[in-house]
Amino acid sequence: MDDDYDDYDDYEDEEESERLYSYDRNSLSANYYTYLTDSGRNSPTPPAPPSSNTAPSYYPPVSTAAPTTGPASAVPSSIVRNLTAPSLQQQQKPSKNPNSRPSTPQAGSNLNTPKRTQQVKNLQTEAASPSGSRVSSEVDLSTFRRNQLQNIAKATSVPRKAVKPRAVEKDLINLIVVGHVDAGKSTLMGHLLHDLEVVDTRTIDKFRHEAARNGKASFAYAWVLDETEEERERGVTMDIGRTSFETTNHRIVLLDAPGHKDFISNMITGTSQADAAILVINATTGEFETGFENGGQTKEHALLLRSLGVTQLVVAVNKLDTVDWSMDRFEEIRNNLTVFLTRQAGFSKPKFVPVSGFTGENLVKRMDLRWYDGPCLVELIDSFKAQAPQSDGPLRIGISDVLKVSSNQLVVSGKIESGEVEKDDKVYIMPSVTAATVKECANNDGWEHCFAGDFILLTLQGTFEPESVQAGSVIVRSGPDTLIPAKKFEVRLVVFEIATPIIKGAKSELYSHSLCMPCTFTKLIHTINKSNGEVLKQRPRFLAKGSTAVVEIETEHDVAIEAFTSCRAFGRVTFRSGGNTIAAGIVEKVITPQ
Ligand code: GTP
Ligand code: MG
Repeated sequence: MDDDYDDYDDYEDEEESERLYSYDRNSLSANYYTYLTDSGRNSPTPPAPPSSNTAPSYYPPVSTAAPTTGPASAVPSSIVRNLTAPSLQQQQKPSKNPNSRPSTPQAGSNLNTPKRTQQVKNLQTEAASPSGSRVSSEVDLSTFRRNQLQNIAKATSVPRKAVKPRAVEKDLINLIVVGHVDAGKSTLMGHLLHDLEVVDTRTIDKFRHEAARNGKASFAYAWVLDETEEERERGVTMDIGRTSFETTNHRIVLLDAPGHKDFISNMITGTSQADAAILVINATTGEFETGFENGGQTKEHALLLRSLGVTQLVVAVNKLDTVDWSMDRFEEIRNNLTVFLTRQAGFSKPKFVPVSGFTGENLVKRMDLRWYDGPCLVELIDSFKAQAPQSDGPLRIGISDVLKVSSNQLVVSGKIESGEVEKDDKVYIMPSVTAATVKECANNDGWEHCFAGDFILLTLQGTFEPESVQAGSVIVRSGPDTLIPAKKFEVRLVVFEIATPIIKGAKSELYSHSLCMPCTFTKLIHTINKSNGEVLKQRPRFLAKGSTAVVEIETEHDVAIEAFTSCRAFGRVTFRSGGNTIAAGIVEKVITPQ
């Protein structure tokens, strides 16, 4: 591997490499901001193409094959409608503030009870964009706080009542839909929701009518998930669209990711919450190639899925109506992608399904196609396996949005990754070590005792300093299982297709759950042979594209992440630089100051 870079001695020229990798918040985020500013808004030209990601497989292959499904005709009688369908029309993503950190919209989702929708509406109008900074809370722990942390960790855990998770009829699966820009992700899922009767025909007709007035009639189904005015005007998803539906065996929380490279941080945030994924491919002549080759997002999205621990994958080969349902085209795409997905991204036996999100074939009803008699899309979704929720583990709630702040009250939304929480619980918010009491707490279905896997809205009482709680903060309890924030971590990562190798001292931006923080590669510890895990080289001078390595990183401020073995969600990290994802991996060790 290093041999490939023998003639890269120039990279010893640290100045040059450091310049390329140095973190400059403005330049780093330039594309993002330009895209959002008025001048950039109408620019039809997307930003510079990303590097393609042809990193070899990092993880041992796992079976992603969705089990074969039931009887041939079966349009699952099964498919059950969303319980709160009518409110879908009313929901709106929070408006996108160019200065605010991209985050996952959760408030106002149709998952909310009417009471909560009302509450959130009020909060949204009151909230003065508390998460105003793109980078997560800039907290450096003082000696006082460090001592406080030690006491928190030493405290004996408050015994919890025996955990009796709600009896749920169906497991929950968080499903992310990814793929190159314009692959038809939102249209596909909007049409599916309509066919499942989660969205009624009147709503679609209304969208079609309104979209036609803006010359965008073909986006009617996409409007189900593209809720903001700007997304609809531009015809581009900018933030994760979220809704829910049910299949025979599962409750599905659907996360519709943006495909445009400028919004990849939102895609990463969504992916870090996902258990399974649909990769949407545009089969139109020339379009699969654009998405798959250099500059396309197909490979980057697939690698990100895998690097962030999503192992279950279905590939929806979409827009087949534009190539007359050609078997040759389907096979060409399947063959090319299978090689990449299995050999380089580490998925094993991904399932492929031919569909048209626009005309609606093979979504909830099997299509009568000469060359395909496999399951339709919803049957494949139904065959995903749910993660066993970690309700009896230590409490970990990743905050993804701060909806309202005052000096003594906070309203936040987030996901419980482990443990359970209810009213009156005493908690701490990391990394700022802020004590709080849970005043109100409810999950998407209005339950007040919430468990691992739930997306929740929490009202917290305490004494809150400005900016001390942000997207990327984590709610924990005291006791030996608490989360100790730190700045230094040992990370095992895979390096993506990058133009310049990573050297010691290189700057980057670290992403984990909803966190985003500048960081530095402080030590390159060793490279690893990805096929057998053996150490290849101690203290390498640089990390070439495709290499797997263990490194030490230091974040600019204390952050709440932990070893992957302690909590999967907070142990997955991604590194970005210059607008591209340069590496991704898992935290092996937290290095806490002595
Ligand atoms: P981003 O979220 O911005 O990445 O786009 P997307 O992947 O969600 O694509 P979207 O659903 O917004 O669709 C883009 C365009 O493709 C719209 O004009 C759709 O009508 C069109 N489209 C989507 N699916 C199909 C399809 O199956 N057939 C045809 N002919 N057009 C489609
Ligand atoms: Mg979209």
